[in-house]
Amino acid sequence: MEILTAQLEQWMRDYYFSTDIDIGSSGVENFSMAELRSLIGLDTATIDKVAFNDSPSCGADGLRRAIAERWGDGDPERVMATHGSSEIIFLVMHALLRRGDEVVVLDPCYHALRNIADSIGCELKHWKLRFEDNFVADIAAVKKLITPRTRMVVVNFPHNPTGATLTHEQLEELVDAVSAVQAYLVWDSAFAELTYDSEPLPDPSLVYNRCITLGTLSKGYGLAGLRVGWCFAEPGLLNQFVHLRDYTTLYLSPLVEVVAQQAIERADVLLRMRLDRARLNLSIVNKWLAYHKDDVRWVRPRGGVTIFPKLLRIDDVDQFCHRLAREYGAMVVPGSCFEQPWHIRLGFGGPTLELQDGLLRMSALLGAGAGERIAPPNYDSQPQIPAH
Ligand SMILES: Cc1ncc(COP(=O)(O)O)c(C=O)c1O
Repeated sequence: MEILTAQLEQWMRDYYFSTDIDIGSSGVENFSMAELRSLIGLDTATIDKVAFNDSPSCGADGLRRAIAERWGDGDPERVMATHGSSEIIFLVMHALLRRGDEVVVLDPCYHALRNIADSIGCELKHWKLRFEDNFVADIAAVKKLITPRTRMVVVNFPHNPTGATLTHEQLEELVDAVSAVQAYLVWDSAFAELTYDSEPLPDPSLVYNRCITLGTLSKGYGLAGLRVGWCFAEPGLLNQFVHLRDYTTLYLSPLVEVVAQQAIERADVLLRMRLDRARLNLSIVNKWLAYHKDDVRWVRPRGGVTIFPKLLRIDDVDQFCHRLAREYGAMVVPGSCFEQPWHIRLGFGGPTLELQDGLLRMSALLGAGAGERIAPPNYDSQPQIPAH
């Protein structure tokens, strides 16, 4: 199997650990164990009870139930818990796709959602989210791409990196189009509960039995390093994923499962804190972008904690991002990681002061590049930073 380099992961390896400021990641600030334990009421006695036994292939009963009750219809038999949603993406594609299958993918998109199908030898058809259209998803366009030959449609809304999403009506239209040809729908809902102007979308796997809905604790809940993701799908499909999992990670650690279960049972607490902050941060980004309107053009996100703006006066955006990291200590992600080299991915889910500092550093580099103004934007007043 030949698989393309995951450019985004390579970039993270280069700069995530070596810069002081992260304004490139797609998640929110992660919690420490101490913060998490106090927020979700996890006591050491519960942790001490964990025995390092094997765990079931689809996840411990309590964890599956917690996932099903929070995000599904309460039926744990439709849940498989995995090592991040990355693992389930890998299993789903290897279980269900074969060389020559036609697969519709979003463009741009998170690399795994496309590169794994590509490595299997599938024929990819690109459903483009265009900057010129304000990244508004065009359902008529995807309907044209879906044919009786389509084996799978892979989408992620709210979308990384653009922050685009669908309306309820658009989601229904998409499900109708996919079910009309009996293709699989992979619905990556990594950012499901991070929305700004609308309610989270419903889970399409509840109405379409060839839909696999993916979720993760990595994005909205500040638990990226816990490495817990899941999918909802028909038990028959889960069996096919388990068949492959027997050759990869087998199951999750029971320690991780205990922490994850309790975090999910109290997910509202975690989410509220991080979503409140994301809203505040977005208002700061908005001001910064207004100040830099001649340098940067953007589309306001409807969900997630990233935007995908275009740098208007920078000839080599990759070089700009390298300089920002090496000389100014701040990391954004170059759009080339999503094959759109005029853009950057800017993440606003982190601590507010870190975001402000990172934006000032970027202002300095933009000013240096343009040779004109270096003055940082003047935030009218210091924002109220939530206590948490
Ligand atoms: C859309 C999307 N899906 C899946 C993942 C994988 O996340 P994890 O394996 O941490 O759940 C990411 C990570 O950035 C993502 O952006």
